[in-house]
Amino acid sequence: MDMDHAHTLSLPNGDVVKKPFLIGVAGGTASGKSTVCKKIMTELGQTDMDHTQRQVVTISQDSFYRELTAAEKAKAFQGLYNFDHPDAFDEQLMYDTLEAILKGVKVEIPGYDYKTNSLDYENKLTIYPADVVLFEGILVFYFPKIRDLFHMKLFVDTDSDTRLARRVPRDINERGRDLDAVLTQYMTFVKPAFEEFCSPTKKFADVIIPRGADNTVAIDLIVQHIRDLLNSQSSSRKGSSSNIQINMNVD
Ligand code: ADP
Ligand code: C5P
Ligand code: MG
Repeated sequence: MDMDHAHTLSLPNGDVVKKPFLIGVAGGTASGKSTVCKKIMTELGQTDMDHTQRQVVTISQDSFYRELTAAEKAKAFQGLYNFDHPDAFDEQLMYDTLEAILKGVKVEIPGYDYKTNSLDYENKLTIYPADVVLFEGILVFYFPKIRDLFHMKLFVDTDSDTRLARRVPRDINERGRDLDAVLTQYMTFVKPAFEEFCSPTKKFADVIIPRGADNTVAIDLIVQHIRDLLNSQSSSRKGSSSNIQINMNVD
């Protein structure tokens, strides 16, 4: 972990902008990455806040899928497109966007529509300069240049059978898929790509979270670490304060 992370950047004109603490969250499909990120945000008191006020934001790697051609879309509808290969992502755009975020620049990124297998520009996400940015996805530790940008790396480690058992109903209920396409895609692409590209990146993690979102002890420890880090940085910064809300558990 990068403990020397500086919390602000001074611009040539004297302005001071926030420099986010960037956390990568990797793990196999349906391991619980999105759920873990949601829990971290909730514990840091962020979910009830307006987006412009939030000091913790989560970005999904899905927003950096490459646009598909008509022929690729036709394949995707049958579960015959490989969304789990590193080439499916726009690595340069991912890198440039994270670099901009780290410079405290406000950025806009598209959402992702799994039903049409396309980027969703109608539902863009504006990333305001924040204290903490979580970047989650199956291959966020795969690309060395991107991997090196993270101040903290988490790997959500959930058994493959549990992941498959969660992916099937999720893809049918939430992502508009049918059982045949989900299983074909899983056996043809998802499982082999997990073994070749995702699983080997576990070794880059600072913290491995067994059982994902069920592991409240691990999540509490990570949240406490983030709070400590931000508090020590804000108290060492004259005249500034962190906007992270500290929820003391008084039960
Ligand atoms: P990922 O983002 O890694 O693909 P998700 O967080 O979307 O994983 O979780 C996959 C599916 O499993 C979702 O439908 C989610 O609601 C469900 N899920 C996640 N964690 C748990 C858990 N601990 N217990 C039960 N269901 C879970
Ligand atoms: O949330 P999760 O980590 O499961 O998202 C990544 C998964 O989404 C990949 O395993 C990929 O197969 C799947 N995906 C898909 N269709 C798309 C884009 C991604 O099935 N259009
Ligand atoms: Mg997810």
